[in-house]
Amino acid sequence: MLLPLPVGFLIPWADRRFPGRISLPPAARQQRQEPSFAENAFRTDADFCPVFHSGFGFVLAGRMGWYDYPQYYDIAFQSETAREADFIEAACRKYAVGPVRTLLEPACGTGRLVVELGRRGYQVVGLDKNLAALEYLQRRLRRRKLPCLIFAADMSRFCLAQPVDAAYCTFDSFRHLLTEQVARQHLDCMAQAVRPGGIYILGFHLLPPDASAECTERWTQRRGRTQVTVTLRVLRSDRRRRIEWIRISVLVRKFLIPKPPAKAGNRPETAWPAGETVSAPKNLFCKQNPTRRQKALAGKPPPLQVLRFRDEFPLRIYTARQFRQLLAKVPQWELADVFDFWYEIDQPMKLTDQMADCVFLLRRREWPSS
Ligand SMILES: C[S@@+](CC[C@H](N)C(=O)[O-])C[C@H]1O[C@@H](n2cnc3c(N)ncnc32)[C@H](O)[C@@H]1O
Repeated sequence: MLLPLPVGFLIPWADRRFPGRISLPPAARQQRQEPSFAENAFRTDADFCPVFHSGFGFVLAGRMGWYDYPQYYDIAFQSETAREADFIEAACRKYAVGPVRTLLEPACGTGRLVVELGRRGYQVVGLDKNLAALEYLQRRLRRRKLPCLIFAADMSRFCLAQPVDAAYCTFDSFRHLLTEQVARQHLDCMAQAVRPGGIYILGFHLLPPDASAECTERWTQRRGRTQVTVTLRVLRSDRRRRIEWIRISVLVRKFLIPKPPAKAGNRPETAWPAGETVSAPKNLFCKQNPTRRQKALAGKPPPLQVLRFRDEFPLRIYTARQFRQLLAKVPQWELADVFDFWYEIDQPMKLTDQMADCVFLLRRREWPSS
């Protein structure tokens, strides 16, 4: 366990009160929109293009980005957090020169890892450009009284007053930087922000030259009464311009009663307590020819609220060679090792053009080579 030293000195313009203060310019505060679940559910203005039909007759969707729903984003990715945090700790022990007490996460989003690593005793600094995510994270840090500090910034244009010992950025956040120029600026900023001998753990998907760009993934996660199903699809990719378009479709179900833990002998999906089942409106769930979805819901309490939305955004494409070329332009970083998304610290990989899931272990050189 590390000593909880204050980290406010790291960022001159940050509010030094703890825990987890966000420092936002006043104009940014005014622009901020934070719709609640209910507001979204009934919002119908022209900006909001209705494309989905929810189980309870709401027609929902709109132009909110995926990252503007931090409460659902955080649930969707919760299962990865502990494993990633274990890897980050192990990598700091193995690759950083000297002890690691302070960490930086650019594009920290809802702060899954900020909170987890803060809980493990590190002083974590997080930055992101999404204000909804930062305010969500600020509330979590306050609740847990963690000595972490977060601020709003672009990850390709920021600087810290004091460098940190190590940094990490996983989950493709780096690919949000769409041009060579901003990607390079980001690596430059990170080289300023991490002390010599410190490390930067950078994880993202590569697209091998002969790989098919098509890809669809779907997964479901649940926390308390909320279940989030995410479908991620690569819509199209342009290798020449090095951009691929991703569509994220999200289905949120909020249940009236929390799902009890599965008991031995109970099938998990039927383990709801008898008598507490909520009957659904007849016209929705008791049609003569039930749809597949209605059949799937049979016997379970129906969701209290259903929200569907989707978002599309571009990501930059990298092959291993393209990333190496970029790295060569930022000599402050040396490539110490490469891992895949199994996060096995004792199993570094050889970087080849065939690798798709990559975690780059970069070490900050003592002195940039000319
Ligand atoms: C895939 S999420 C990752 C969030 C978090 N790191 C995690 O692992 O859960 C990508 C995050 O990058 C942020 N982001 C994208 N472009 C950014 C930029 N230029 N500067 C700062 N944050 C950015 C988004 O707001 C979003 O929170």
